[in-house]
Amino acid sequence: MLVMEKVGMMLNNISFEYFQKKHLDSVYNLEIDIFKLDAWSKSAFISELDNKFSLNLVLLKDSIVIGYIFSSLVIDQCYISNFAISKTFQSKGFGKILFKYFINILLYKKDISISLDVRTSNIQAIYFYEKFGFIKFYTRKNFYKNPLEDSFTMNLLV
Ligand SMILES: CC(C)(COP(=O)(O)OP(=O)(O)OC[C@H]1O[C@@H](n2cnc3c(N)ncnc32)[C@H](O)[C@@H]1OP(=O)(O)O)[C@@H](O)C(=O)NCCC(=O)NCCS
Repeated sequence: MLVMEKVGMMLNNISFEYFQKKHLDSVYNLEIDIFKLDAWSKSAFISELDNKFSLNLVLLKDSIVIGYIFSSLVIDQCYISNFAISKTFQSKGFGKILFKYFINILLYKKDISISLDVRTSNIQAIYFYEKFGFIKFYTRKNFYKNPLEDSFTMNLLV
């Protein structure tokens, strides 16, 4: 994990930070609210705190966590394992702000491939990723539990 605590300047009360212990409860509460039964456990988030292959960011508005993105970065492969914006703030452009910031951090590496899985029914997220140039690569059968569903694995080369 990169060592800087703050990664972004305050701009219109928006800031970015690397995920740290102080964000744990806020992120976990959002996760439960957004993903319900399919939410990551608290221990999954805790294990991200000292994962040296992680690139995990939180988005703050007025110093409150309203979104987050979790990814692992190994050589030229980045896998996005979790990405969400608080329900109150969805569809208002905050996902785009966080995602652009995340991509910018990755740009220091050349030819990096980003992949992720998304529920085949999650039209909102699929549109989001397609907007950023992601392409559906293949389908993984029963990738998700609670409820059981296939995923599209999507890819982008930056
Ligand atoms: C997917 C998610 C992170 C996107 O963040 P967001 O802040 O809602 O998205 P934005 O407002 O920045 O919108 C960016 C683009 O996403 C798409 N989008 C956003 N909301 C949408 C909606 N309700 N329906 C369809 N497309 C939508 C659009 O293409 C939009 O671009 P546009 O505004 O130029 O039309 C967010 O909606 C979310 O947290 N969803 C629930 C959790 C989730 O599904 N995470 C992804 C798991 S793979």
